[in-house]
Amino acid sequence: MTRTTLRTHRCGALRAADVGQRVRLGGWVHRRRDLGGIVFLDLRDRDGLVQVAVGPGWASPDLVFRAQTVGTEAVVVVEGEVVARPPAMRNSELATGDVEVHATAFQVVGPAETPAIPVARGKGDELPAEELRLKHRHLDLRRPELQANLIMRHRLAQRARRVLSELDFLEIETPILTKPTPEGARDYLVPSRVHPGEFYALPQSPQIYKQLLMVAGFDRYFQLSRCFRDEDLRYDRQPEFTQIDIEASFVTQDDVLAIVEAVLVALWDEAGHRIERPFTRLSWRDAMERYGTDKPDLRYDFEIKDFSRWAKTDGKIVGEAVRQKLEGKDARLRGIVVPGGAAFSRKDIDRLSQEVKQVGGWGPAWVKRQGEQVSGSIAKDADVETLGALGVRDGDLALLTVGADQVTSPALDKVRREVIRRLAPAPKAAHALCWVVDFPLFEPDPETGKPVFAHHPFTSPHPDDMDKLDSDPFACRALHYDAVYNGNELGSGSIRITDPAIQRTVFRHLGLSPAEVDARFGFLLTALAAGAPPHGGFAIGFDRTAMLLVGAGSMRDVIAFPKTTAARALFEGAPAPARPEDLAALHIKVVPPHE
Ligand code: AMO
Repeated sequence: MTRTTLRTHRCGALRAADVGQRVRLGGWVHRRRDLGGIVFLDLRDRDGLVQVAVGPGWASPDLVFRAQTVGTEAVVVVEGEVVARPPAMRNSELATGDVEVHATAFQVVGPAETPAIPVARGKGDELPAEELRLKHRHLDLRRPELQANLIMRHRLAQRARRVLSELDFLEIETPILTKPTPEGARDYLVPSRVHPGEFYALPQSPQIYKQLLMVAGFDRYFQLSRCFRDEDLRYDRQPEFTQIDIEASFVTQDDVLAIVEAVLVALWDEAGHRIERPFTRLSWRDAMERYGTDKPDLRYDFEIKDFSRWAKTDGKIVGEAVRQKLEGKDARLRGIVVPGGAAFSRKDIDRLSQEVKQVGGWGPAWVKRQGEQVSGSIAKDADVETLGALGVRDGDLALLTVGADQVTSPALDKVRREVIRRLAPAPKAAHALCWVVDFPLFEPDPETGKPVFAHHPFTSPHPDDMDKLDSDPFACRALHYDAVYNGNELGSGSIRITDPAIQRTVFRHLGLSPAEVDARFGFLLTALAAGAPPHGGFAIGFDRTAMLLVGAGSMRDVIAFPKTTAARALFEGAPAPARPEDLAALHIKVVPPHE
């Protein structure tokens, strides 16, 4: 299938069964070795490497000379015979390692200057700095690891398409030049040339369009959709990224979870992993209580416990400072008992303290039990007996913090993650997928305390909490669910609001005036009033999923041309200043930041 006029086989595809065949290959010179007059070239293409031998027994002196002088990364076309390697020369680490090609014709079709970064690496060789690799992305992308990542990404995309098509979903494209879609980030704006002073927004997600498609009766939609968000970037966030975006009509939350599970099981299968359905379900409240996060890593125990009641009644272990803090509004004493944690050094515990301080937490107070010995920051208030009552056994470490849940939860999440990193215990399972359900509909804005949406404003309030929507909005749960894998959020979704009146109430809680609502979302409200089926959906973060499935340390390793954490494309050099005449045509004047 890969045969063309210029070649018969891919380099990496040759096997023992091809011995005796005359082949014509095209590829890049990965490595060259000159051994006593025979030149060995590792020729590379997308399928892998094959050894090409150019020796006096079968090649002309001129051909041997050309092979001796060809530079690495040049593109060559080679003709020759596939020959079995002598048993002692076989290379079991290479898929083509049983054979080599004895070249009888050799042509450099794409000469290469000395590459700015090496493509071939020896065992243990460090990669060049990432900035350099991003700058020379065309070379970095030749690395077999990145080729394998992008090949897997392709397979995952095709599998998602296949499984969703089998489930009767239609792939429908939605616009890129659009109106702002609120997903919690800033919009990228595109100025209109023909309408001076007006702007399109790039979609943060196709959220509103997929809802409109449900109103229009398409029943089941999906798209591998490109989303754009101007937000602070991290290893697992990019300004433009891809979602496997799904929406379905006449569904309940259970139906959507079942659909998404089917897709995720298929994706994991494509990557060679078997995962069981149905996934564990945790309420948001339970996840925050036991793990301090809405992205719990369920491969490990080390659950958070509430020690407040104990501390208040027997009060020995915690000392006066904590007792006073416990008097504070909503304060609780919460902590983690680390089996075997007595082996932690002072330095380890200092690192844990830093983690806690980073999120504005207190302490943590800590205590170790080793035989009859008790040591640690609150050792004078603890004895073996009281520790036993806390569940701290011989050899264990207890880490405790006190305060309101908004602080103790993130602090103990960090402690738990650091403890797991430091102890590296055997996981209970390699792949821990779970659902976190029943999120709150609103969260308090950390600065103003006013309600902001926890997911997006189109998420339906939980039917059991509808009465709280007006009286106690923060206590109102939502039909919003997240899929979590080994401590990472894979995706989010919800059942949507279909009643325009409820949609208006939610907008009002978010501080939007009726006029603003009409200007920004009037078209959605009109559509909802035109006969909207009950509907809901989900978006799987595709780059993040691919990153986790190939075991890459960064999303940049599964995106062909990613941006840096400063949102720059180093290879092509974007963003860049625009030409004055282009700005003029767009009716734009740039005001430098210092003006
Ligand atoms: P949400 O905003 O949670 O939901 O996005 C869904 C998933 O997309 C991924 N993601 C990102 N990946 C890379 N870089 C980013 N900057 C980035 N931001 C988000 C995450 C996330 O879980 N419209 C809703 C979905 C719905 O309700 O159907 C939405 O976009 O993996």
